Amino acid sequence: MTQEELFKKLIAHCKEYGFVFQSSEIYDGLSAVYDYGQNGVELKNNIRQYWWDAMTRLNENIVGLDSAIFMHPDVWVASGHVGAFNDPLIDNKDSKKRYRADVLIEDWMAKQEEKIAKEVTKAQKRFGDSFDEAMFVKTNGRVLEIQAKIDAVRTRMVKALDDSDLPEVKKIIEDCEIVCPISGSRNWTDVRQFNLMFDTKMGSVSDDANTIYLRPETAQGIFVNYLNVQKTGRMKLPFGIAQIGKAFRNEIVARQFIFRMREFEQMEMQFFVRPGEEMKWFEFWKEKRMSWHKAMGLGEEKYRFHEHDKLAHYANAAFDIEFQFPFGFKEVEGIHSRTDFDLGQHQQHSGKKLQYFDPETNENYVPYVVETSIGLDRTFLLLLSSAYNEEKITKEDGSTDERVVLRIPPALAPVKLAVFPLTKKDGLPEKARQIMDDLKIDFKCQYEEKDSIGKRYRRHDAIGTPFCITIDHQSLEDNTVTIRHRDTMEQERVDASRLREIMEEKVSMKNLLRKI
Ligand code: GAP
Repeated sequence: MTQEELFKKLIAHCKEYGFVFQSSEIYDGLSAVYDYGQNGVELKNNIRQYWWDAMTRLNENIVGLDSAIFMHPDVWVASGHVGAFNDPLIDNKDSKKRYRADVLIEDWMAKQEEKIAKEVTKAQKRFGDSFDEAMFVKTNGRVLEIQAKIDAVRTRMVKALDDSDLPEVKKIIEDCEIVCPISGSRNWTDVRQFNLMFDTKMGSVSDDANTIYLRPETAQGIFVNYLNVQKTGRMKLPFGIAQIGKAFRNEIVARQFIFRMREFEQMEMQFFVRPGEEMKWFEFWKEKRMSWHKAMGLGEEKYRFHEHDKLAHYANAAFDIEFQFPFGFKEVEGIHSRTDFDLGQHQQHSGKKLQYFDPETNENYVPYVVETSIGLDRTFLLLLSSAYNEEKITKEDGSTDERVVLRIPPALAPVKLAVFPLTKKDGLPEKARQIMDDLKIDFKCQYEEKDSIGKRYRRHDAIGTPFCITIDHQSLEDNTVTIRHRDTMEQERVDASRLREIMEEKVSMKNLLRKI
């Protein structure tokens, strides 16, 4: 199965098993907006909890916040979003499709990198065990030629975007002979800037002064509250404020399912530090955030850091954490050193002092900020795309079958355990209900008595339930039940009185938090 086929199957699976639905589907949907179904919402809540606990419980100097989506319009002038939160767009005149010009160029660079990878594979086959990849990449003429082309285009693109030189951006597209993926033509319009913020009216519709924005990032709610929290919480530098909430961007290239949405959720943390100490904390948070990801156990090789080619208007250093999605390595989280840009801007635009009095140095200053910003929806997609597995299995009678199993880390799984009476009679449902009632206060459980046990297992494999408990006739005699493990499909018989203790050990969020 190709990665593209895998991704299509994953999207269909998300709908079939109540994870993600297209928004307003009965009206043919709303592009790049999605709803989370009964299993999706549980998974999303668990990811949220994992992030929240990692931030606010494991770090005594990080506290939470829940600021409003609507903010004073001047916030977005001060933050630079009104002036500079733009994407460079270009249209193909034949297909009438609109693209982000920088994404077209980045896709072109990725294709050149694929060419290098092909040269490496070819050489590997030719030279066998004696092949030295590092040496080959440094010395092979063809590879060096492609790499030089990529580097030159990247340098031109970064400069053109930095200078807002849109004719030059178009010229790069022409020079690279980039064609529209739909029409195959090079018939492009000029490149234009397009602001990504959604606006709406507050109060009287006719009054222009009341235009307000749906926040494009949650971070600004933290900046404008930083002194409130610092003073009321008696926080000393360095300290952090964490927030989870919706953000909105009028994305033009909205694609790859929930990877790029117009309404999405961010989990952001702003860490306020002494000026001059920001690079130390930047390195600290880069590593800490990577270990949060790795603790989920999805495979260390699936992650990498990527340094930004072009820094945002507020940053002096920025790295992405990228994950290997079915459509390639892509950003899931950003770690940014935002200097004192935002607080400085808000101080200037609001006319209110946003300085911190440092009792150790007896100085007043505007703190510097290191930010960690992760997309909740992207983390959801990352988990599902690495969890989705199609497997051939051999049954006890020797026949073969297939199953789709979501190998979600147990602590994050939407349903932790399913409780099945073997049959619908002989007092088994009553016994199963009793066990379920006892456990449901601690774990998200589901009771099922319809269909064969095999079918019930398949249904729960497909939503990633790590454990299924079956109550049979022996259970009535000696109070034992079987636990069936999702990943190994092994079964073990245990005393029902031990279930809480066994489950607690296997599905607790503590298992993840301890690894960070
Ligand atoms: N406060 C900094 C900030 O917003 P960003 O790199 O623009 O930085 C941070 O966004 C994270 O938010 C991204 O790494 C991504 O996971 C998520 N994100 C951004 N735009 C998104 C979109 N349109 N759909 C889904 N997630 C998005």
